[in-house]
Amino acid sequence: MKNNEIHNLLNKLSVKDKIYQLIQLSGQFYQQDDELVTGPQQKLGIAAEAIKNAGSVLNIRGAQELINLQKRNLENSEHAIPMLFMADIINGYETIFPIPLGLGATWNPGLVKEAAAVSAHEAAVSGMHITFSPMVDLVRDPRWGRVMESTGEDSFLNSVFAQAFVEGYQGDMNPDKNIVACVKHFAGYGAPEGGREYNTVDMSERTFREYYLPAYKAALDAGAKMMMTSFNTVDGIPATASEWLNRTILREEWGFNGVLISDYAAVKELKDHGVARDFKEAAKLALKAGVDIDMMTSVYANNLESLVAEDEELRLLLDEAVLRVLQLKNELGLFENPFRGADVEVENVVVFSDQNRELARKVAQESLVLLKNANGILPLGNTDAKIALIGPYADTTSLSGMWSFSSHQQETPTLKQAFFEAFSEENVLVSVGCPMIEADFLKDSFGSYHTAESTSFDEEQEFARAIDYANEADIIVMAVGEHHLQSGEGGSRAQLTLPEIQKTFIKAVKALNKPIIGVVFSGRPLDLRDEFQQFDALIEAWYPGTEGAGAIVDILTGKANPSGRLSMTFPYEVGQVPIHYNEFSTGRPLADSSHSKRFTSRYIDAPNKPLFPFGYGLSYTHFEYSNLKLSQKQMSEKSGITVSVTVKNSGNYIGKETVQLYLRDLVGSVVRPVKELKAFQQIVLIPGESQTVVFEITEEMLRFHRADMKYASEPGEFHVMIGRNSEDLQKAEFTLTAEAGVLIEP
Ligand code: BGC
Repeated sequence: MKNNEIHNLLNKLSVKDKIYQLIQLSGQFYQQDDELVTGPQQKLGIAAEAIKNAGSVLNIRGAQELINLQKRNLENSEHAIPMLFMADIINGYETIFPIPLGLGATWNPGLVKEAAAVSAHEAAVSGMHITFSPMVDLVRDPRWGRVMESTGEDSFLNSVFAQAFVEGYQGDMNPDKNIVACVKHFAGYGAPEGGREYNTVDMSERTFREYYLPAYKAALDAGAKMMMTSFNTVDGIPATASEWLNRTILREEWGFNGVLISDYAAVKELKDHGVARDFKEAAKLALKAGVDIDMMTSVYANNLESLVAEDEELRLLLDEAVLRVLQLKNELGLFENPFRGADVEVENVVVFSDQNRELARKVAQESLVLLKNANGILPLGNTDAKIALIGPYADTTSLSGMWSFSSHQQETPTLKQAFFEAFSEENVLVSVGCPMIEADFLKDSFGSYHTAESTSFDEEQEFARAIDYANEADIIVMAVGEHHLQSGEGGSRAQLTLPEIQKTFIKAVKALNKPIIGVVFSGRPLDLRDEFQQFDALIEAWYPGTEGAGAIVDILTGKANPSGRLSMTFPYEVGQVPIHYNEFSTGRPLADSSHSKRFTSRYIDAPNKPLFPFGYGLSYTHFEYSNLKLSQKQMSEKSGITVSVTVKNSGNYIGKETVQLYLRDLVGSVVRPVKELKAFQQIVLIPGESQTVVFEITEEMLRFHRADMKYASEPGEFHVMIGRNSEDLQKAEFTLTAEAGVLIEP
């Protein structure tokens, strides 16, 4: 449709028709042909007409289903406006990739882009138009359950991944292959006080702009066409009602012209926050703030008509919002082809294909992080040793985390199956040993959300069997971790340890004094202090997805060499959080303060250092760094400098190394972090091979929000640090000269 035709269409719509375009309801409203699903209707308090005419639907799947729904909608709708179909396609549609925190650990944006493209392809042929992804919220507090949905704690790394996701999903907007990316949650949702879900977010504008905002902006710069608000407050105002966030920053400063959708029920929650007296006021606040679509409430549906009748300004805002929704439909080509990529036959071929599953295995391999490997116990090779595979994750298909809705979940190979494929069956003894989590905890914590998952075994017997197998075996592999519902939305935790029932089990196995390889499944960095002592080797597996089990076995045998690196710090214990590598220097740093140790910045009962730092991860081979060299010691705004380092594979396996570059601005008008990731490169080296890795440092990389809030660099001394993780680094110094043109205000 041409632009003027869109405007004509808008002009033809009644106020009611316009409001319908701004309503999004979930699939449960549309499950019976032509018949109104009355339960949800009553609960939401919304008119049947509004349901029938809603402009978009969330979380309904499948080509046939969506073709039928679109047909029904077009037959019913006076103006034949197609519906938009959106869903949470977070780490895969049917083929499930590792959770985003695992994707972050690949440090491989190219691969993440490929994974996103596969998810988009599967979704597009199944009739989907938009995914509520990427989630680019910066996270520093592993108590928050949704850290699993983020790529981690660093704004540069998150920005790189934000771009990769958007490019993968949207590609060149081929109707048969691509879908629209809806970036979320705008903004700052990743910093709730105390790590508690939906809690207040409050921070300085400098911190907000410097660290929290860049990844959203990067996603928009990559072309993302949609944005979702967040549940939290920012500076006392719920994001969904914030004109500063959604109009000043998003639309005026960044020039975003796409659709802004509220998060689920967030418009209604403006009343619960206490910024709206009633739902009418909530509707007004959200519309004024620039929220185009109201997700899953009746607030716009029931209140906008009277509001726009009373207030001309709101009438204009209504038109603006509707125009943006119609334009998005148009960009998706829905006026010409309302069914877009939906095709039942193609869906059968593309979705969950062998090829997609193969990619999922590769991505999972790269997401796994080897945290410990004492005495080179790994890799196992094609061992003939007897292996006891024990622990609650030994034989489960639940490897994809909270945000996967794959109908192929039952086809997810379990670790047991993957072990039987890699080793001879008589050498593998399998027992789950103990339940995933205490039964009471399940009931108390997850309530009705928890669909019955009673342990179908006699706990005492299974425990005894696991101990027998461990006794009989030469090597023990313990597959342990959080219950998958302990992370994700509503999964905040005050403790970061494994479930107590598993810790007891591990202790009993440890008492046998045999080599133990631990594989930990989790949606967050855990406190693994005990397990780090108890296990000889330790692998962080996240929720690795459909092909996770095979990928883990590839790493255990050495068919693949681990290359994952943490994109989020693993604290030593929960008392350290929030924790992140790019902290500020205090006035009394522990390492070199003139004050006595007592009066330095530290804990008296815990170290300052985390258990595993940002960027950390081991390989089966060794990489040596040497010869850090700068092309020159001085740089100006116009002339960047290059820095090079030689990396040698001095071990026995081919391996991939992630060479990380950090910068420190020694003196600034505001305190600068002790280091900040500014670039990285992945290289693959065969044993004995060396490579010189070259980075360019530009003036742009030195910019920050200065004391005057201008985003610019300041001349002075800098450190450049290169190495294998945020702590193991080589260092050199350079100067940014104060020549004309460098952005320094008098
Ligand atoms: C979540 C969003 C999600 C939405 C739709 C909300 O509860 O916060 O991330 O996209 O539900 O399912």
